[in-house]
Amino acid sequence: MDIVYRPRRLRASPPIRGLVRENEISPRQLIFPIFVTEGKLVREKILSMPGQFRLSIDEIVRECEELYALGIGGVNLFGFSKNKNESGSKSYAPKGLVQRAVIAIKSAVPDLCVQTDVALDPYTTHGHDGLVIDGEIVNDKTVEVLCKMALSHAEAGVDWVSPSDMMDGRVGAIRKTLDKNGFKNVGILAYSAKYASSFYGPFRGALNSAPKSGDKKTYQMDPANAREALREISLDIGEGADIVMVKPAITYLDVISRASQLFDVPIAAYNVSGEYAMIVAASEKGWIDREKAMMEMLLSIRRAGASMILTYFAKEAAAFLRANYGSYS
Ligand code: PBG
Repeated sequence: MDIVYRPRRLRASPPIRGLVRENEISPRQLIFPIFVTEGKLVREKILSMPGQFRLSIDEIVRECEELYALGIGGVNLFGFSKNKNESGSKSYAPKGLVQRAVIAIKSAVPDLCVQTDVALDPYTTHGHDGLVIDGEIVNDKTVEVLCKMALSHAEAGVDWVSPSDMMDGRVGAIRKTLDKNGFKNVGILAYSAKYASSFYGPFRGALNSAPKSGDKKTYQMDPANAREALREISLDIGEGADIVMVKPAITYLDVISRASQLFDVPIAAYNVSGEYAMIVAASEKGWIDREKAMMEMLLSIRRAGASMILTYFAKEAAAFLRANYGSYS
């Protein structure tokens, strides 16, 4: 056979493969989503997400110390509210659940990048991310509430707020509110291209936040569209987003890839609950290798071009990397 170039030469051994490896995962690039609940010493299993818990603030502080020791970059907090109402007003209570969690984490582990979700769905009885008036999820009135929520997180000392609601114009409005109130250094991680996805099911189970009627298709994006995602991203950058996010991750790797080539801001990807649940469930059945599938999935998101990944696997992946540090594969 007359083959001039043989790609297999560079796959011959673990060290050779290591030398030509294009992408790696580091705990530094991982962000762990945490569900905050009231009480003390509470570690409640989440049925739809085996291995994940709703944690009380004291437990979260311990968890964050562990995450920091593992080299993980940040945490993203979601409130598990039992005080839901029509307008989601508990979302911006100054001594609210998430606000208190931010204060506690920042005083125990000041360097860990603390981020908070900004959207109304965990706090509303109807389960939508915005206010519902005559059956419509209204945009501008919702943005006013989101600004109050973001401000209350900033007052608690958060590093980044992350609006996940997909209302138009909210990034600019939040930026203005933060600046006006002296929080110029609080960043915005914007869920810019967030799709109306079926992969959020397990998360909605965790927060009891599934919409009671209708769906989220009038605000979250149509899974069929990629160019529209680029438009959403450029709008958010124009409004002052520091980081833009694509969500979910593995069914939208093309969007991550295009965004990372077109824009010069850091790109985040949300490896969502359904993506986590698929690997957990298939490995429980013995159909796939949990650790290998986890690392391959995270690597695919990095390869696509994401700088940072929100993932329920953050702790497990960081522990895996630590245990295997320096070893060849
Ligand atoms: C709500 C929100 C959702 C997620 C993050 N923020 C659910 C939704 O939009 O219905 C999903 C995260 C996941 O599935 O892991 N604003």
